[in-house]
Order: sequence, then structure tokens, then C-alpha cells
Amino acid sequence: MEQVIVVDDLHFKYPDGTWALRGLSFTVTRGKKVALMGHNGAGKSTLLWHLNGLFLPQQGEVRIEGRLITSSTEKWVRTRVGLVFQDPDDQVFSATVKEDVAFGPRNLGLPPGEVEKRVRSALAAVGMLGYQNHPPQSLSYGQKKRIAIAGVLAMEPEIILLDEPLAFLDPAAQENLCLLLEELHRQGKSLLVATHDVDFAASWAEEVLILKEGKLLAHGDPELLLNEDMVREAGLRLPIVAQIFRGLLPEGFTLPRDVQGARRILQAFLK
Ligand SMILES: Nc1ncnc2c1ncn2[C@@H]1O[C@H](COP(=O)(O)OP(=O)(O)OP(=O)(O)O)[C@@H](O)[C@H]1O
Ligand SMILES: [Mg+2]
Repeated sequence: MEQVIVVDDLHFKYPDGTWALRGLSFTVTRGKKVALMGHNGAGKSTLLWHLNGLFLPQQGEVRIEGRLITSSTEKWVRTRVGLVFQDPDDQVFSATVKEDVAFGPRNLGLPPGEVEKRVRSALAAVGMLGYQNHPPQSLSYGQKKRIAIAGVLAMEPEIILLDEPLAFLDPAAQENLCLLLEELHRQGKSLLVATHDVDFAASWAEEVLILKEGKLLAHGDPELLLNEDMVREAGLRLPIVAQIFRGLLPEGFTLPRDVQGARRILQAFLK
């Protein structure tokens, strides 16, 4: 199984002296759905900026598809790794939505017909096809977030990093984004999603990476989110469905982590 992301002993200190990453090491295998979690200030966004070469390691190293990220590979890295920023106001800046989404593919040197095709399909994927000629500044925050996601999709990266993609989306847009993430997963993309949404992470992720104060607290399957000591230490909480069943189940049953799991338990009792 190919390791598409390898982070080894990564350290990063901001110019004001704040240590955001303090010796972080982990790997991500190609095609996995990974949730990146941890309290405010744990270092999630800082880590994501390293994974697509916006920040270079001050100590330690990051490899993407086996290649070390350095000042000479950072451009290549950005063709392989797409990052949707936490704040769309940092990402969406062109005069029109169409221009904004076209910016990346045009920079790749693609012919105009291909750029047009990618812009349309990316905007359709986030349900914003009707907004092509709108200035992004006139859109709502959630709409801007969707444009930022489209801008990354249009680059067709193999590894997609999304920083709090569900925040500010309405429930229908959240559901659409979940379907889109499933589709990208089916296409074989590697997905790393920073999120505080425990219910989403517990039902969506194949692996969970939990940061605490710039270090790795835990890395494992989503059952980690059913471990009460772990979630408390990480500043998280149990998934809602697990909270409902906590203390109620006879031996032999494990807490559910998603709605389907909860339904299976209820069906066993209602039969
Ligand atoms: N531009 C900056 N200058 C100085 N310190 C910063 C800067 N950006 C972030 N930090 C600090 O670095 C640490 C990690 O911040 P980061 O934004 O990576 O956390 P996060 O896990 O993404 O948090 P959140 O859940 O709030 O998005 C925090 O202590 C934060 O205060
Ligand atoms: Mg963040």
C-alpha cells in the first residue's frame, strides 16, 4: 500500500514564537478517508499548509508520493495536493466566480476548452453552476466556501485536503459535500478533512488523526471516537448516537458511531 503522505518529526514555530507543531509524525495511505481532529489551536491548519507546500518544514520533513517537499518541489506538490482553506476569504479573490475557479487550471497551462470544462464540472459538483458571473465578494460565506472547494476540484489533485469544509454550509449543502467526498473516494483520491464535527468524522472517516498541542495524540480507526478518555483529552465529545446508547446496552453490544449502527441495534431489540 502506497504511502502518499509521510510526515516525520515536523516542527513549526510562527514568527511570534508560538510553537504550532512540535514533532509530528504519521503516514496516510493512498485512497484513504482521514479525519484530522483536535482542539482549537492544536495545529491542524498549520499542518495542512505544510502538506501542500505553502509552509516548508523548519525541522523534520514531509513527503508526498515519496518526494520530499522543498523549495524546489513545492510547485509540483501543488499539482498533486489541493487544499481548501478554512477561511474562503483567504482563497477566493477573482472578479467573478468563473475566473476564480479557472485560475488554478489555467495556471497548469491547460487549453481554454479544458479549463472551461473543468470549471463547469467543478461548479456543478458544488451546486454553484448558476453563479459563474457573480463576483465572489457578493456571495454568502457558505457559498464562498463552495467556490473555494470548486477551485480545488478543478485542479483535479490526487490528494485533497479540506479544512473545516462543513462549517457554514447549510444541511443540504453539507449532505451534497458528503456525497461529493464519497464520489472522490470512489475515484481513488486520498482525502484528509480537518473537522470539529465528531458525528461526521465518526460516520465518514476510515482513519482518525487527533492532534493535541502540535503533537499526535492518536491515529487509528474511527472507534477512537468512542473512547471516552480519548475524546475528553482531545477536547471532543462522543458522537450523538453513542451518547444515546451509552450505559444502556447489554454485554456483547458496542456503542454505535453512526446512524446506521444505531439503527442496527434498535432493529435487534425491536424484532
Ligand atoms: N499567523 C499566526 N501567527 C502566530 N501564531 C499562529 C498563527 N496562526 C496560528 N498560530 C498559532 O499556532 C497554533 C496552531 O494553530 P492552527 O491554526 O494550526 O490550529 P487549528 O488546529 O487549525 O485550530 P482551529 O481548530 O481553531 O482551526 C495555535 O497556537 C495558534 O494560536
Ligand atoms: Mg484551523
